[in-house]
Amino acid sequence: MNAATHEIAAVGAHLNEVYPMLPFTPVRGAGVFLEDTSGRRVLDFYGGHAVAALGYGHPDLSATIARQSRDLVFQTNALPLRVRDEAAERLASFGPPGLGRVFFVNSGAEANENALRLAFRVTGRSKVVALENSFHGRTAAAAAVSFGAAKSWYGFPRTPFDVVFVPRNDAAALAADVDSSTAAVIIEPVQGLAGAFDFAPEFLHAIRAACDRHGALMIIDEVQTGMGRLGAPFGAQLHDVRPDLLTVAKGLGGGFPCGAVLMPHSIASTLKAGALGTTFGGGPVACAAIKTVIDVIERDDLCANVRNISAVIRSTCRVGPVESIQGRGFLLGLKTRQKAAAIRDALLARDILVGTSADPHMLRLLPPLVLSKDHVQHLAAVLEDLTDAPL
Ligand SMILES: Cc1ncc(COP(=O)(O)O)c(C=O)c1O
Repeated sequence: MNAATHEIAAVGAHLNEVYPMLPFTPVRGAGVFLEDTSGRRVLDFYGGHAVAALGYGHPDLSATIARQSRDLVFQTNALPLRVRDEAAERLASFGPPGLGRVFFVNSGAEANENALRLAFRVTGRSKVVALENSFHGRTAAAAAVSFGAAKSWYGFPRTPFDVVFVPRNDAAALAADVDSSTAAVIIEPVQGLAGAFDFAPEFLHAIRAACDRHGALMIIDEVQTGMGRLGAPFGAQLHDVRPDLLTVAKGLGGGFPCGAVLMPHSIASTLKAGALGTTFGGGPVACAAIKTVIDVIERDDLCANVRNISAVIRSTCRVGPVESIQGRGFLLGLKTRQKAAAIRDALLARDILVGTSADPHMLRLLPPLVLSKDHVQHLAAVLEDLTDAPL
């Protein structure tokens, strides 16, 4: 047994299975490429579930994390930190107008858990309206508003509040289900796990209107869609919709784990000390990373890059097994004739990493925002080569 095999066997023996593992063990990355110990390089169109927003080994992000961990690796929210204030200020101005207060947490599920808590606290109501095929995370409240979780992986004996799931883009069903008992409506502007399902902007505006009519809060879950992935800082800006609460994680720290809830002063000012809490949320390394990720997205105009290169994907990658393309920006679903998992495996065998989704015929692309045209041309050529491959 050589050293690499030994390493894998040791990991396999003690690690709980989370997702089925693919046959590639990266040890480093540069730009949009991952590399294993043998020097094999894989072009990454999946970005670690949309986390590696700036790709791998980004000089600014690596330098920031190294510097901040040398200066001060951690401190509690009980002490003021300048880097935390600055990260909150940068994130609030990067986000849609009106959400000027930030609560930092550690993950997408935790962000949604707290957004839901705030909605119940502010409205004093007991019901949430969510969308069919949605995914909002694995904690008790976030999973309660994730479609189908209760029947499969939820695990808790009951959900902690009432939830109604409405069909996607069905404004009439939405209008019927949002009422005076509704604390919040929660939606991903493009559903990620569902296979990059892009909501009609009118539907997002219908949610805003229904919430306004009944005094409910609109929560926009931008855990996957945020930080430039749709070609705008957030889907809320892209569609000019004004949520009451916005959640973000994944690309927020470019790979350093963190999340956040953005809220208006009107909500933040109702919260007494102790209403929200976290140990690790808002830690200095996370906050330094957040500042740098936003700086780089703005400085290098990565939102424009996402829009331009996304258009190239749409115009060149409908080849080979790909029948159609849906989604937005760098959250794209490639509908495949054969099973998506078989195409993913065939692509990985040809050194290209893509994701799958809840739809067995939908591949998911979530590449780093720094992807360029030549990478897409390579994907298109490899897809075309798969036309006659036995899959
Ligand atoms: C839209 C959305 N919300 C929430 C989550 C949960 O985020 P986390 O895994 O960081 O808890 C995810 C993760 O895939 C997601 O895609």
